[in-house]
Parts: sequence; C-alpha cells; structure tokens
Amino acid sequence: MALWGGRFEEGVGELTQRFGASLPVDKALYKQDIAGSIAHASMLAAQGVISQEDAAAIREGLKAIEADIDAGRFVFDINDEDIHMSVEAELTRRIGEAGARLHTGRSRNDQVATDTRLAAKALAKELMQANASLRHALLDAAEAAGGAVLPGMTHLQHAQPVLFSHHLLAYVWMFTRDFTRLRAAFDAADASPLGAAALAGTSYPLDRKMSAEALGFARVIPNSLDAVSDRDFLLDLEYACSVMAVHLSRLSEEIVLWASQEFGFITLSDAFSTGSSIMPQKKNPDFAELIRGKTGRVVGDLVQLLVTVKGLPLAYNKDLQEDKEGALDAAHTLSQCLEVMRGMVSTWTVNADRMRAVMGKGHLAATDVADYLAKRGMPFREAHAVVGHLVLAAEKRGVDISELPFEEFKAASDLFEPDITGALDLDAVVAARTTEGGTAPARVAEQRAQAEVALKADEASLTYLTPVVEMGQGA
Ligand code: ARG
Repeated sequence: MALWGGRFEEGVGELTQRFGASLPVDKALYKQDIAGSIAHASMLAAQGVISQEDAAAIREGLKAIEADIDAGRFVFDINDEDIHMSVEAELTRRIGEAGARLHTGRSRNDQVATDTRLAAKALAKELMQANASLRHALLDAAEAAGGAVLPGMTHLQHAQPVLFSHHLLAYVWMFTRDFTRLRAAFDAADASPLGAAALAGTSYPLDRKMSAEALGFARVIPNSLDAVSDRDFLLDLEYACSVMAVHLSRLSEEIVLWASQEFGFITLSDAFSTGSSIMPQKKNPDFAELIRGKTGRVVGDLVQLLVTVKGLPLAYNKDLQEDKEGALDAAHTLSQCLEVMRGMVSTWTVNADRMRAVMGKGHLAATDVADYLAKRGMPFREAHAVVGHLVLAAEKRGVDISELPFEEFKAASDLFEPDITGALDLDAVVAARTTEGGTAPARVAEQRAQAEVALKADEASLTYLTPVVEMGQGA
C-alpha cells in the first residue's frame, strides 16, 4: 500500500506503479538513505519531537536493515516506489510504531535531495582518488619514456619534435584541472537540504544544523524551496565527469593511432588488447576505443539532466526523479574508464626507435632553420620563405630538409654556415625549446616536478574533505 493511502480509495495501477518507481535505480543510495534517517531521528529526539527510546529503536532498526542490505540478504519489494519507502516500510514492520514516527517533520523531497547530495559527495571523492591514481601512472609513464622523441603534430601533420614525456604531461595537466572540477562538485553537494521538508520548512522545532553536522555536511541550504529542487550539484558532478571523459577520449584516440601499423609508436600489452574471431593476426586497441565510445554516454548523461531541469517550476516535480540514473551512470562509467586507462598506460611499450624513424622525412627542423636565419638578422617572414623553398626542393627529391647538401643551403642564403647541421639535429631542436613550458628536457623535468607537487597537494586535500557516506555495495 502506498504511504499516502489515507487520501485514496484505490491503489495505484500496476502499470503506473512500475512506471513511477525509482527503486531499481535509487536502491544504490541505501546507505545514504539510512544515514539520513538516523541523523533525522536523533535530531528529532534531541529536540523533544520524538522520545529518546523511539530514536534508539529507529537507529537500531535501521542499522539492522543496513547490515541485511550490505550482506545481500535484504529482499526488496518491487512494489515499493523507492528506497525511502522500502527502508521505512521495513523499519515499521520490524519495530512498529516508533518506525512510523521517523517521517515526522520530513518529506521525501528533502530526504531524496539529502541522499542524492551524500551520494554525489561519495562519488566525487571516489573519482578524485581514481583521478589521482591515473595521474601517478601517467607521471610514471612520462618518466619511463626517458628521452623518447615523437613528431609533435598540428592538423595531424608533423610539426616539431617533442619529448614523448612532454606529450604525456599535457594529459597530466588536463587531469589536474579535472580534479579541481571534481572538488568543486564535491563542495557544491556539501550542503544539507534536510529540514526543508516538502518545500516550505516545517512547524516542528527542527535543528537543521544538527542533522547537517551529523551527516558531515559543511553547511545548511538557506532556502527550503531551493533545497528540495536544486540539482546543480549533480550538473557540476556530471560536467566534471564529462570533461574528464573527453580528456580520456582524446588520449584514447591517440592510443588507437599510436598502436596502429602506420604509427607504431606504442605496443599495448596483451591484457589491454583483443584479437579477432576471424583474422588471426589482429591485435586491437578495443579498450581505448571503448573509453572513447563511453564518453558519449557520460556527456549524454549531462545533457539529459540539463534538459530535465530546464523547464521545472519550483519546487519539487517528479521529473527530478530522473536525476540519479544518469549521475550514477556517469560516475560509474568514468570510474571504470579511469581504471582501464591507468592499466593501459602502465603496461604499454614505447617504441622510441619507431617514433624517431617516422620523423625522417617530415622536415621537423624547418622552423629551426628559419630561426637560424632570423637570429642572424634576416626578418623571420623572409626566413620562412627561404626555408619554404628549401623544403620544396627537398620534397621534389624525396628527401628530408636535413639531407640537402650544404651548398644548397648556401645558395638559398649567404647567412648559412656549416654549423647549420647542428640546427637540423632533432635532439638539438628539442633541446632548444627552453621557454617555460617548452619541450627541452630540463624544462620537462621541471614541469614534471610541478605536476607531482600538484598531485601531492590534491591527494593531501582529500584528507580535509568533510566526511562522506560511502556508496553501499549490497543492493
Ligand atoms: N522517488 C522520488 C525521487 O527520486 C522521491 C521523492 C518523491 N517525492 C514526491 N513528492 N513524489 O525523486
């Protein structure tokens, strides 16, 4: 029977019961729901709204239910609409009247907002940890790459040589920013709606600060209407997930390219590759492709919630029940992607010789040849044109600019001296890029140290987060 039985003469139809239910999704929040109810009951007793005996019975009953769900021995009634009803109905079956007093001064509207915020905090924290693990793996991979140089590209065309470690560090910085976004999402969720009741507050003398503190919330939401209808915190979480997924997807795309025969820059370990059911020779980068593919889902989850919320009048509307599935999906999907990516970068083999070999005909030193002339007085635009002609001459002969004879350089400009060969050496080209953030080995080492400091600071910041109610695994 529905919890609003009094007002109704007929039960809800089977079709609408199933259509209206969110239990299959929100039972994942059972720990948050039970923690929320315990905090509420304790506060009600402290305020003299219910007796201490009733509060104690409620706490014990809820803990026993939690233990049963944790252990996987709780049988959910598919006729319950949501986790709030499941838990409360079972509590009342177990402890009788005291259970029926739990919902005093509370609505499922502030209850679900509370549970969802607690879940958002737990998910953001899990993702921050996974984000940090991936950054460790990328930093290790950057270290292991040593002096490997690959063709840096723009427009997917050879541009200038860069250290492979420099390339990997670019991703480390993206993930560093993603951590900050997750942290912002955590902070957005870190406010208690409990006590807002259905929409307007209640006439009971609730102590909202007390229940907020018991749940580990940093603050209380100041407006009851906002408290029950705001889902920005989930948008923040899903946005943080989406941007991180997009970063993972870009890296995945590079992995797919690098693992191809055409590039051959890396070899994925067997554990992170698949074969073909028909072509015996195949070794496919399936998991990089799958991360790229799952990114669509994560971004879709964000867009879904944006659209769900956009037309809603204040305060609670049932549409909001559609908020949790996407958020849980985005967080779980991303968490898997982070772990798989970590495994992939920790076990790949970097083919430094192959990277070097493909740079043979790319004229990657051309900019440095132009810089050579400019540093000897020629305006850079003019130097650019001179070197452009040298590249054209090399192209016509099917050689790299570095393979042209010195006389040809001399004929193009009198400023060329025999030391031009030094400017053509790719290691020298890399080493010359000494601006802060550049690819010169010393600069990359410095940058790697900075990224490590940022990682350590982020990891340390996790210990200062307000307490979270971890997601349960039993439902
Ligand atoms: N299952 C609902 C949800 O997830 C709980 C809140 C229901 N409130 C209501 N007034 N129907 O949003």
